Amino acid sequence: MKKILILNGPNLNMLGVREPEIYGHETLRDVEVRCSEKARELGFKIDFRQSNHEGELVGWIQEARGLYQGIIINAAAYTHTSLAIYDALKMLSVPIIEVHISDPKQREEFRRFSYIGLVAAAVVAGKGVQGYPQAIEKMAELLSV
Ligand code: DQA
Repeated sequence: MKKILILNGPNLNMLGVREPEIYGHETLRDVEVRCSEKARELGFKIDFRQSNHEGELVGWIQEARGLYQGIIINAAAYTHTSLAIYDALKMLSVPIIEVHISDPKQREEFRRFSYIGLVAAAVVAGKGVQGYPQAIEKMAELLSV
């Protein structure tokens, strides 16, 4: 069974509480359930994780080598700042999909640049939390399962 790692960056543990007018009312646990359902439907196994720490995310990306057939990442604010996450992702040879709940390109100027976008095979943004299962579908297309 193909395995996908789904990584979430800082403050995404606060979904449901954090700026609901932008990010909605669902919690990260709700998002994980949505992802599990979609993964089951498509025959994937997922590992779903969140960290507020850049180094922990880098560590998980390093450990992913050889274990996962794809990575879906919402790096949150690190999207726009983390050369370290970019460098770690560059070591992977599996497809990377960037996901955002909001559409950062339609927001403040400082959210327009994405380090993740430089390595991502696809981007799903501005679809709300529904973007996560959509990213899993996109992964299925990329892996042609
Ligand atoms: C986000 C967008 C980022 O700009 C922001 O820093 C986040 C969440 C999103 O999912 O819309 O924390 O990645």
